This record gives sequence, structure tokens and C-alpha cells, in this order.
Amino acid sequence: MCGIVGYVGMRASQDVLMGGLKRLEYRGYDSAGVAILSTDGGLLAHKRAGKLSVLADDLDSRPLSSGTTGIAHTRWATHGAPTDANAHPHLADGGKLALIHNGIIENFQELKAELVAGGEEFLSETDSEVAALMLAREFRTHSNLTTAMQAVVGKLEGAFTLLAVHTDAPGVVVGARRNSPLVVGLGDGENFLGSDVAAFVAYTQKALALGQDQIVTITPESVSVITFEGDPVTPAEFTIDWDASAAEKGGWSSFMAKEISEEPEAVANTLRGRLGADGVVTLPELDVLFAGDATISRIIFIACGTAAYAAMLGAYAIEKWSGIPVSVELSHEFRYRDPAVGAGTLVVSVSQSGETMDTLMAVRYAAEKGAKTLSICNTQGATIPRESDAALYTFAGPEVAVASTKAFLSQVVASYLLGMYLGQRNGVLGESESKKLADDFDALPAQLEEMVETGPRIKELAGWMADTRSVLYLGRHVGYPVALEGALKLKELAYIHAEGFAAGELKHGPIALIEPGQIVFVIVPSPRDPSSLHSKVVSNIQEIRARGARVIAIAEKGDAAVLPFADEVIQIPLASSFMEPLLAVVPLHIFGMELAGAKGLDIDQPRNLAKSVTVE
Ligand code: G6P
Repeated sequence: MCGIVGYVGMRASQDVLMGGLKRLEYRGYDSAGVAILSTDGGLLAHKRAGKLSVLADDLDSRPLSSGTTGIAHTRWATHGAPTDANAHPHLADGGKLALIHNGIIENFQELKAELVAGGEEFLSETDSEVAALMLAREFRTHSNLTTAMQAVVGKLEGAFTLLAVHTDAPGVVVGARRNSPLVVGLGDGENFLGSDVAAFVAYTQKALALGQDQIVTITPESVSVITFEGDPVTPAEFTIDWDASAAEKGGWSSFMAKEISEEPEAVANTLRGRLGADGVVTLPELDVLFAGDATISRIIFIACGTAAYAAMLGAYAIEKWSGIPVSVELSHEFRYRDPAVGAGTLVVSVSQSGETMDTLMAVRYAAEKGAKTLSICNTQGATIPRESDAALYTFAGPEVAVASTKAFLSQVVASYLLGMYLGQRNGVLGESESKKLADDFDALPAQLEEMVETGPRIKELAGWMADTRSVLYLGRHVGYPVALEGALKLKELAYIHAEGFAAGELKHGPIALIEPGQIVFVIVPSPRDPSSLHSKVVSNIQEIRARGARVIAIAEKGDAAVLPFADEVIQIPLASSFMEPLLAVVPLHIFGMELAGAKGLDIDQPRNLAKSVTVE
């Protein structure tokens, strides 16, 4: 949450900073601001409540300065409403120092009381302003911005990424991070800081990820990193494997529309080089988990939101294919219930951003308890994969729309690959079953293309449902996480009450919600499935239809049994049971997007949400 950018070099920093904010806007969009060290030695700042476009319009008519050093921030409010005054940067030292912050300073009340007692005046209600005022005091003592930052971070508790500039330190941006992300972009005669690489990928593909509790000082020619204790560090450099065009809308009406269209490619890219035609899975990145003959006797997935639904699908597959017991927990529930984890437990986190604070804290908790940790993540250089024993990257490409779509599919695929790998390693998953799965995966991208093409039909459906107040989703076995994901998308995007239920639970409560006209999406298992789930779900459809529900069935092509009972049928191609959820979820992603569109809502930036939830 909150996007931050820092720049020092030879370009007009306002352009670099505003471009960076544009790419980070998904992290927060209730206010934004920028501060620039001007060529005449002053500091110019401007900040505005509202979306980034409000600030951009102001700066278009009144540019700040031609200065080449600056910092900028796009906010997701925690302490203090989204107002001009609470927007960042916060100024101190008579307007000579500017500071931006992402995170929560937990001891800010105490620090604020001390500062007020010392005669300081606050202009905002934020926790962040304490850091600005403290940094100004320390700078007066040390006359060095890096040393001053070191003195400040020693007194802060909680989560923070801080960036600061001072007129008496021209050509310098100092940053610090604890429990909040910060990456460095390495240029030629210029350097960058950002919450993630999207901030600067338009200028450089070389980057450094800062570790926990580190301070970085950038000038046009240098990048130096120290720990909070002052010891020098040399962070590992990495290359960003996508370019700026991948994070552009490219003619689509929204990032979400573009990202749904990329779902087949996200799946293909996550599989690439990892699954042979014979079904053998190669994942050398997991070797480290088995060093010294270590074994895995239990797996716990931890994740939040959409990632948790991907984990549920992963859990079903892994347990079936490897025989290893698997459970799924929401990260924020896991770490506060004293779970019995330790040697032999593999804790698998799933996170698109790799920065979700609850998941990061759960990973740290698991590691402290002696569990092995594996991160399934879409973002290189993010904190969770760096702090995990092993990382299995998804290759969905940058996901900008706040509601996750293509990343979900790639997370499911990565979890399935993990299941196959473990099953092959312990001999539970045989050759013929592996080969069959390889064939299923091979067919998947083209089948997903077919699902993406259901777009116009789903748009029509969404059009006539724009006034609906409640939508229910029913699914069973692998259809259940799909029901949950469909409902989440509708809440997030269209602000409509939506619930996903396990179809088997229908008679234990949810059926009481059915009244004439209630819209219910039902994810129907294949009639070819040897279990009797298909007929059970068809019976559920009859039960809700008898009570007046309008049923939209997502069912396999040729499934004649649902036709008499469904008001609408969205057909999916013939696939094996573990591939079905990947196909069935696509129309639900489209439906959430189109219903939000039909209601005239902002599809990419829904109210009150942010993509990378870096606060608890
Ligand atoms: C937020 C987003 C969701 C996402 C969740 C987990 O709530 O709005 O779309 O699923 O965070 O994010 P992560 O980056 O950990 O996958």
C-alpha cells in the first residue's frame, strides 16, 4: 500500500517521478504528492487529495521546477483521511526537508507527544509526519542525511519505507526500509528508488532489492547501502525480465480487460520449461528444500484474498498427487493461533505481490518455528520470496488492476506443478498419470483462449444484471474455490453483495437465501467425472430453481443434464477435473469486470482497496 518513487540524475525529475507514480498507482490512489530539489537550491512540493490525475493536472498547468532530484508518493490512507494536508510528502525544517512514507509507525503517538512537547507543530494527522520532524532534528545535529536517517529509524517501531531529500544535501535521496518494500533501479548517471520495479522499468532493467532494516543513499553516480547499525552491505543485483510496455494498457479499456486477455499466456509462461511432454516436472529451485535428505510430511498454504483461493485448488491437487496432507489458512489467522509447525512442515505462501504484510509475517513466524518456507510469487525482488527458503515464480507478467486475475491462474498452475513434482519425487504420482496431466496442461492455453472469447456474451449478461443487489455462487470440490473467487471479484469490483458456497452446504443454510429472482452461478462438474458430483450439483440446481432462483450454469460442452434447469449456460471445453476450475473462473473474472463497467465504476481501482497490502 502506498507507492513511492525517488530519483536522482540528469532528467527533469518531475517527469520521472510522475511516470513512476502512474505505474505504482495500483498501490494506493486516494492522494498523491511530489517534492523536487530545484536547481536554484530550493525545495518545491505539491500534493493533492484525489487520484493521481488531480495532481497531474495541477502540475501540467504549473510545473514544479527543472530540478533533477526528487521524491513522490501515491497514498492509501491509514492514519488521517485522504486530504491535501495528509498527503505526502511531509515537509520539515522550514520547508527544506521533504519525506514520504509507506507503512505504519506504530509508536507514533509517543513520538508525536515528545515532538509536541519539544515545540514542534504538526500540519497533518498522519503517523508519517513524526518521521519528517525527527529527521529534520537529526539532520541539524549530524549534517548528513544518511546518518540522520540512521538515528531516526532506530527510534521507529512498525513498518516503514521512508524516502527523504534535503536542500542542504543536493543530488542525494536517502531511503530506509523495515517490513515494507523498497527496490533500487541502477542507471547510468542516474539512480532510482521505488516500491517496486514498475516505478523505474521505463528507464532501467537493472535493480537491487534492499534487505530488511537497510538504508540506501543514492546520488547520480553511486548507490550505497548500510544496515540500520551502519554496517555496509552489497545487495545482489537482478535483471527485470519484462519491459515497460508490458505494464501499459496497450489499447484495452482497462488493465483488467488486458490482464484477463493475458490469462492463457500467463498459464503458458508459468509452465514453460518446467513440464516435459512425458509429464516430468523439473523445478531445480526447490532442491534447497530437500538438502540433507530433508523430507516434507505436511504442507500448509498461507495466503490472502484471491491467492488463498488459488492455494485451495493447489491443496486439493497436491494432496491427491503426492499423498502429503495439505491445509490452507488465511495468513492473518495462521500466525495468531499458535499453529503446531516445525521440522517436516513446508509452509507455502502464495502472493502475487510478494509484499502482503500478513503473509510476510506468517512466513517469518513459520521460519522461526523451524518450518521450511516456499514462496509462490509473481514479483521478482519482492520481500516474501527473498525471505523464503525457496521461491517458485509465476510468470504472469506485471498485474496492474487491483483485482487479481491472470496471477490467480498462474498461482494455481504453479501449485499444481508443485503437487506433480512432490508426487513424482515420492513415487505417488505414476508415469501414466503424469503424462495425462502433461497433455491436459498442453491443451490448456488454447482452451483458455476459448473462455476469454466468451467476453461479449458475459457482457450482455452483466448488462441486464446491473441493478441486481445480490449474487450467489455455488461450487463443489474444485468448483468451490472458483465460487469463492467469483464472489470476491463481484464484491471487489461491482460492490455487490456476493457469496460463494460449497454446494454441499446448500441445505445447511444458504438455501434460505433463495427467493424468486435471486441470481445464482453454479459451477457444474463434468458428467464424465467418475464421482457422482455432477448429479449432486444438478440436484442442487433443481432445488434452487424450484425456489425461484435464476441459474447461470458454467458447465461442460455437451452436458445435456443441466440444460432443462438453467436459465443460462456458459460452456467450457472438455477438460480433466483439475483443469476445469481454471476454465470456469475466466467467465467469472469477466463477469465481475463487466458488471462494474455496467455500473460505471472504476474497474482497475475499486474503492477502498489497494493491490499490495503492506500494512496489517
Ligand atoms: C489484495 C488484492 C487482492 C489480492 C490480495 C492478496 O486484497 O485486492 O486482489 O488477492 O491482496 O495479494 P497478494 O499480492 O498477496 O497476492
